[in-house]
Amino acid sequence: LIRGAGPSSLEGVRVLLTAGPTREPVDPVRFLGNRSSGRMGYALAESLADLGARVVLVSGPTALSMPRVHERIGVETALEMHAAVMSRVADCDLFVATAAVADYRPERPADGKIKKSAEGLTLRLVRNPDILSEVAALDPAPFTVGFAAETERVADYALGKLRDKRLDMIAANLVGGERGGFERDENALSVFWPEGSRDLPMMSKTRLAAELAALIAERYRERHA
Ligand code: CTP
Ligand code: CA
Repeated sequence: LIRGAGPSSLEGVRVLLTAGPTREPVDPVRFLGNRSSGRMGYALAESLADLGARVVLVSGPTALSMPRVHERIGVETALEMHAAVMSRVADCDLFVATAAVADYRPERPADGKIKKSAEGLTLRLVRNPDILSEVAALDPAPFTVGFAAETERVADYALGKLRDKRLDMIAANLVGGERGGFERDENALSVFWPEGSRDLPMMSKTRLAAELAALIAERYRERHA
């Protein structure tokens, strides 16, 4: 691979990428989480770096080792991820949101460990900020790429998110069940942008990341031609 040559080069492009799950504290010892491993995001971060990009990774808790990127910022909650992204977004050209950000957090985490007493327990949750939507609404906004994890009607929901969040691209995958994308080594994606789409068939997450990175670079280059 010759860097700096060809339509898929990202030489000199500053990328900010979110990955992994978030953890929303319930009390000092418990949290609400999700099944994201962070693998797809880390693989994509490395593939973008392989194309010459300077990648800053904002990552929720994962079991993965440090990827080959410029910088990794570790966060735990959606609010921390939001703050980390907002403090860096002015210095990026391309924003990629692969993180599985909790949509809700407990309104007020308990100060001490919640004791078992009544038969039932109700947690009151409040909405977290939508990091991707906020970034896409900036003026000027970086080139923004979102992900959509869906359990059904993948294309419909993904196209809705592309339009409603005013994204430049969205990569959608089916999660849950047999062919699901979480907790697996393989995945397939349908990628949409305002003028087109492409299906990336089931393959290893590392190969898929390389193909998606090349597609992102192609669209980014076209925009900045
Ligand atoms: N995202 C984000 N901040 C949030 C929630 C989501 O940045 N608080 C990003 C994700 O990283 C992903 C995209 O938004 O790139 C779509 O996430 P998804 O959960 O599929 O969509 P939502 O808009 O949260 O809608 P819903 O969960 O209702 O399908
Ligand atoms: Ca969501």
